[in-house]
Amino acid sequence: MPKPAARVEKIPPYLFARIDKKKSDAQSRGIDLVDFGIGDPDVPTPDHIVKVMQEAVARPWNHRYPAYEGMPEFRRAAAEWFCGRFGVRLDPDREVVALIGSKEGIAHLPWAYLQEGDAALIPSPGYPVYKVATLMSGATPYFMPLAEERGFEPDFESIPEEVKRKAKICFLNYPNNPTAATGSDSLYERAVDLARTHDILICHDAAYSEITYDGYKAKSILQFDRGKRYAVEFLSLSKTYCMTGWRIGFAVGNSEAIQNLGTLKTNIDSGVFQAIQEAGIAALTGSQECVAALCERFAARRDTVVDGLASIGINVARPLGSLYIWARTPRGYGSADFAEMLIEKAGVVVTPGSGFGEEGEGYFRMSITLGEERIREGISRLKALRL
Ligand SMILES: Cc1ncc(COP(=O)(O)O)c(C=O)c1O
Repeated sequence: MPKPAARVEKIPPYLFARIDKKKSDAQSRGIDLVDFGIGDPDVPTPDHIVKVMQEAVARPWNHRYPAYEGMPEFRRAAAEWFCGRFGVRLDPDREVVALIGSKEGIAHLPWAYLQEGDAALIPSPGYPVYKVATLMSGATPYFMPLAEERGFEPDFESIPEEVKRKAKICFLNYPNNPTAATGSDSLYERAVDLARTHDILICHDAAYSEITYDGYKAKSILQFDRGKRYAVEFLSLSKTYCMTGWRIGFAVGNSEAIQNLGTLKTNIDSGVFQAIQEAGIAALTGSQECVAALCERFAARRDTVVDGLASIGINVARPLGSLYIWARTPRGYGSADFAEMLIEKAGVVVTPGSGFGEEGEGYFRMSITLGEERIREGISRLKALRL
């Protein structure tokens, strides 16, 4: 076999490999694991969306290649939903593109903007795709620490001038994975300032925009970049409508960036299966009651985890968004050691913070995508450890 390209060899080792091995060892010993590791809703897709898909799948015109950039009806539905939600009007022809899940767009956009010699500003801890996609493009990632004392928001001021000069894109993600932080108005304002001053495209990953609690509504970066001069935003139907397996999302914002992403995509993929786009239209234009009910359900689970952790001396603020609880490991434990110990001694799986970047060391992440009963079981196992 020929040697793989340097770009593939640059992909960092999979940081969860050790945990996965421990998990499969435990499973092969017949241990019943309570898995707080996976951020994938356990709740099925709402019926009205599934029904539309069932009918759409039978329509012969949906069996052909879809329009690359997404059906006009899908892009219109996305634009209308966005305007209803954030009060920002979008031109569905120039400012919206359909994605095969938001991950696909996040992974492809750096190819449209970055090359060797360029830099990308990436939050640490953060969703690993920002870093890998940057490395694949040949550019250099610059990690912006998300410190707890700054509300897990980056400090743009502390980025060296020469990095700012080389940076062409800056990734942000709120509600945040893994820290569960929500972005402040001032963060978005500062991000737009940074973009304006240094000619940087802000890429806001809003995969959890609708998964929020206690009346909190997440904002869009486009509410701060009204002229759509500096930003694109990635939205996802995955978590909002429990459609992670369907693979549908969309990007909105600066028309030039959307066109460039579209041009790249046209040459790589052939769009989203139209039956899935029809189901996506049903999700975006139908009643949003299902989203409210889902958030209520997740809020109750969040409370069970936060209160359960508090009862064993691990105190975390009650997050207002995302599907995660981000907590400090008990004194004396590194992230990976703590996660491995929990699998071995309690049959409980959490994600070590270090898997999300250096700044995640000393933390662990618990996902709330498992039922209340399992959450209670997991918490009582943690209690029994007397940490
Ligand atoms: C922060 C973040 N962004 C993007 C995604 C990708 O979501 P999807 O490709 O399903 O839209 C995820 C998935 O877990 C995520 O956590």
